[in-house]
Amino acid sequence: MDRKLTTAAGAPVADNQNVETAGPRGPMLLQDVWHLEKLAHFHREVIPERRMHAKGSGAFGTFTVTHDITRYTKAALFGAVGKKTEVFARFSTVAGERGAADAERDIRGFAVKFYTEQGNWDVVGNNTPVFFMRDPLKFPDLNHAVKRDPRTNLRSAENNWDYWTLLPEALHQVTIVMSERGIPASYRHMHGFGSHTFSFINAQGERHWVKFHFVTQQGIVNLTDAEAAELIAKDRESSQRDLFEAIERGEYPRWTLKVQLMTEQQAAQSSFNPFDLTKVWPHKDYPLHEVGVLELNRNPDNYHADVEQAAFTPANVVPGIGFSPDRMLQSRLFAYGDAQRYRLGVNHHAIPVNTPRCPFHSYHRDGAMRVDGNQGGTIGYEPNSKGEWQEQAAYAEPPLALDGAAARWNHRADDDYYSQPRALFRLMDEQQRQFLFDNTARSLAGVPLHIQQRHILNCNKADEAYGAGVSAALDKLRPLW
Ligand code: HEM
Repeated sequence: MDRKLTTAAGAPVADNQNVETAGPRGPMLLQDVWHLEKLAHFHREVIPERRMHAKGSGAFGTFTVTHDITRYTKAALFGAVGKKTEVFARFSTVAGERGAADAERDIRGFAVKFYTEQGNWDVVGNNTPVFFMRDPLKFPDLNHAVKRDPRTNLRSAENNWDYWTLLPEALHQVTIVMSERGIPASYRHMHGFGSHTFSFINAQGERHWVKFHFVTQQGIVNLTDAEAAELIAKDRESSQRDLFEAIERGEYPRWTLKVQLMTEQQAAQSSFNPFDLTKVWPHKDYPLHEVGVLELNRNPDNYHADVEQAAFTPANVVPGIGFSPDRMLQSRLFAYGDAQRYRLGVNHHAIPVNTPRCPFHSYHRDGAMRVDGNQGGTIGYEPNSKGEWQEQAAYAEPPLALDGAAARWNHRADDDYYSQPRALFRLMDEQQRQFLFDNTARSLAGVPLHIQQRHILNCNKADEAYGAGVSAALDKLRPLW
């Protein structure tokens, strides 16, 4: 391959060491267009970072079906045991910026793009099965609370806890983040969850509700606050390094994909709202069914091209997989494409990491950075007499019955946000509880007393031992601040 240096227009660069000047001691000449081009490109190298999940790591791999689930979904990627589909996965922390340290106490993003023969299917999940809230109107506020304070430009535990403790539905997620699982040792050593309820549609047009779980085959490994602090002091890129180096060594990380299933009738009779993102489906009632194995086995050759420019969206589903009434999911169906049109441009679908691996034929036209031929001379309207752009009615979903009066229903007034954190707390052994108390206390240290007390009251509603434990852990720290 000819690696000789040229300008972007392909002309040879004769000198890349010295700018053009008027004499050996004179000023630069504006006609040094190579220098101008180099600077101008350099000034535009940074693209906007993702609003959340800015710091991340990605890799390519495969998904292999190990169990038959065709009675639940007609999605072609699950069509036969042994079938393989190419994937790209990106893991991330949420609150930190692009340069943040990896080993922070935070949720981890777990996003997987399946390049199926029926289009891209993206699972854009986290390493936790639930989330802080169930109403998307409160999502921007969450991010303003966990990101930097507008005046100090510092991350603010006060803002963070002030907000969390005023959302009763957040306790479940807060309990997970403050537990020993709050700092995964690496991206390989954590589970992934689609978190929302989605739907499966089978060949008979029957719908099941479904939740996706990626169970790590590397085992769960976590860091304590002290271990993480020591690690960050030496290595801010610990998760990126771990993933990249493991794949280079040929130690390919794997996760078992499992699903929980619920019939429409079970959903209608469920005592809890199965579309509430702050709640899990109890495993004893809705057991896990094994589906296949996700393996990551190839590092991208270029981080910016593939990882930074990757665009995942829960809106990317394929026939046989659909959405659900979860309002958080519905908000996300808009948010991701919209954010990516700003972050990457209207034609971000044409960036190779985002391009379907199957033939695709959408009739969007023009726009900035259209580099794929723009459908050439093909007409851009439908209906037309030429048989172009025909819709594919065979893939319509079965109707979903919905009812109810339109209103801003207040779910906080009458729902139960404490049974599930209570159950989680009671599952923990003594040592796990102590981790939870101490992690919470360290995070709450320095936060105004009324916010600490509000959190303790919330914990008490789950289990008085939870509130008492946090309170005692705070008392132990009190002389320090
Ligand atoms: C990234 C919005 C809830 C997981 C993002 C981005 C936006 C966003 C705008 C940046 C997208 C980009 O620039 O490419 C929202 C909104 C939410 C929400 C509006 C709620 C209404 C969630 C939930 C999960 C989640 C509940 C997990 C279950 C992720 C992940 C990424 C992300 C993993 C990073 C994807 C990647 O690696 O590129 N979110 N989000 N988000 N979000 Fe959300």
